[in-house]
Amino acid sequence: MAKKLTITTELTVFESLQELPQSIQELMHKAQKARERAYAPYSRFKVGAAILLANGEVVTGNNQENAAFPSGLCAERVAAFYAGATYPGVAFQAIALTVRSLNHEVTTPTPPCGACRQSLAEYETNQKSSMSLYFMGETGNVVQANAIKDLLPLRFDSSYLK
Ligand code: THU
Repeated sequence: MAKKLTITTELTVFESLQELPQSIQELMHKAQKARERAYAPYSRFKVGAAILLANGEVVTGNNQENAAFPSGLCAERVAAFYAGATYPGVAFQAIALTVRSLNHEVTTPTPPCGACRQSLAEYETNQKSSMSLYFMGETGNVVQANAIKDLLPLRFDSSYLK
């Protein structure tokens, strides 16, 4: 007999960044600054990420594109891999993401791509605690997720390799 499984994800939508705690507003401002340093001449779509670590450090990243398109990397993974490389084993507490397109105003909160969710999930699984995620466009609403696993249910992780 087939069974149906339902997966639900709870997100919080804030009308503006000002509704969020000061510490998250500051994290988003760092993501916005990082976003402006993105190297995105091909897509003209700049993405910034800022990760607050459990040791109080904030690590930022932005998308780095390449003329050979698949060789570039998303902002989230630039930041996450830098954090992993610099502060191994230090938990990611929160991550703020923002985008700006040089073609049009992005008012829709823009979530991380699937590959970035998978990469962030690896850190979340290893640290045994959730990281919260805040994402927005250039302006407008901010979406909060309480964990990467909420954005990537049924994820592949190391338990399947055993
Ligand atoms: N991009 C990111 O940096 N993060 C995402 O989660 C989605 C997409 C970048 C990749 C590429 O440089 C540009 O945005 C357009 O896809």
